[in-house]
Amino acid sequence: MAKNVLVVGAQWGDEGKGKIVDWLTDHARGVVRFQGGHNAGHTLVVGDKTYKLNLVPSGIVRDGVNCFIGNGVVLDIHHLIKEIGELETGGIEVRSRLKISPGCPLILGYHSALDRAREAARSPDSRIGTTGKGIGPAYEDKVARRALRVYDLFYPERFAEKLKENLDYHNFVLTKYLGAEAVDYEQVLAQALADSEVIKPMVVDVSAALYEANKNGQSLLFEGAQGALLDIDHGTYPFVTSSNCVSGQAAAGSGIGPGMLHYVLGITKAYCTRVGGGPFPSELDIETAGMPGFQMSQVGREFGTVTGRKRRCGWFDIPALRRSILINGMTGLCITKLDVLDGLSEMKICTGYKLNGKVVDLLPMGADEVAGCEPVFETLSGWSESTVGVKSYAGLPVAARAYLERIEALCSVPIDIISTGPERSETILRRHPFE
Ligand code: GDP
Ligand code: IMO
Ligand code: MG
Repeated sequence: MAKNVLVVGAQWGDEGKGKIVDWLTDHARGVVRFQGGHNAGHTLVVGDKTYKLNLVPSGIVRDGVNCFIGNGVVLDIHHLIKEIGELETGGIEVRSRLKISPGCPLILGYHSALDRAREAARSPDSRIGTTGKGIGPAYEDKVARRALRVYDLFYPERFAEKLKENLDYHNFVLTKYLGAEAVDYEQVLAQALADSEVIKPMVVDVSAALYEANKNGQSLLFEGAQGALLDIDHGTYPFVTSSNCVSGQAAAGSGIGPGMLHYVLGITKAYCTRVGGGPFPSELDIETAGMPGFQMSQVGREFGTVTGRKRRCGWFDIPALRRSILINGMTGLCITKLDVLDGLSEMKICTGYKLNGKVVDLLPMGADEVAGCEPVFETLSGWSESTVGVKSYAGLPVAARAYLERIEALCSVPIDIISTGPERSETILRRHPFE
């Protein structure tokens, strides 16, 4: 019987979803992306090779696994072609295994121009700190029902007409409202039509293919991008991305029924990070040598894969995880980067927030309220032993186990997997999501 597992980020992204998806793919015949775009940056370490993926699902490194890009993904086909080329240069066959939904809205040159011009027009405090990849403007076009989709690439004449209409509108906004340069129609059209020739052979009805795969007993793995707290509805709005990143989106964004999702794995680091703007209650100083935040930043190599920006770091945040558990319906948790905390003399866990004179135990919705939250901490002992590459739960230091068990008790979801290094094998399994 086929079993489908869904991996979602439980924090503000970069939890290590890519590593865990690659690791779990040995039990799956297909891996599916269902939201976001090339704002995602997923790093996989397999032996002495490192793969950085933005759009191609993290199952691609496993031979024979099909990879699907569902309708919920906003697709920059030019970027995708570059990514495919890099993987193929590294000896990984992609084209025969990558399947793209005709329903994906396209990201074209004007979307990133709009994204960057809008960010530049905002005051420093209100800047979202987007990746500048055009994600927000592309989802706006989708909801406004004017998006060009992968499907439209099959009808070049109609594509050219729709593009003209769209670009007239967006160039008006770019030049007259945002004071930016206009984007050249002929150039966008020529590029899209040239790129379309590479993409067309990979376009399939993803919804039907997933249904068929399951019918034939093939298990599937759904790969979330970003994290639940960046979700457009449930995150720290407006400092969020423009898609739903929660588990429910896996169904709508790939064209399956929600009953086909059998296990939801929430990935969370053993601490917190956030890249870009927005409130972050348990945030630490990452600049002062010797401080815990500095260790998280340096040992955890907390630099964004997509933009190279430093990720902000902070203590583990239970009220934020509780929000994430609520909105995702998690079956189990995976805690990554435990090794990054090795050697810290003490560990703090944020167990609640002081907000308007009261203590609350759940991350409020919306940035303004979150910005008013003052963290309440519980202190635990650290551990001096190394956990790097530890592969069994019993092999972890007593204090590390106590830290994990305290998190488990505070959030009431079992920790099924623990990651102790970037490499595939540096993983502790307590309960297998596919078994
Ligand atoms: P994603 O966006 O959720 O896939 O996460 P990223 O790939 O952007 O960021 C996670 C980073 O941490 C990557 O560089 C991984 O190689 C690395 N990583 C993942 N798990 C571990 C771990 O358990 N320990 C350490 N030290 N690094 C890890
Ligand atoms: P992965 O899949 C971390 C953040 C950006 C910004 C906000 C909006 O690697 O976990 P956008 O370009 O999406 O409009 O930016 O969301 N962001 C991410 N942060 N990891 C990601 O993806 C992210 N994708 C977007 O930094 O704050
Ligand atoms: Mg990432």
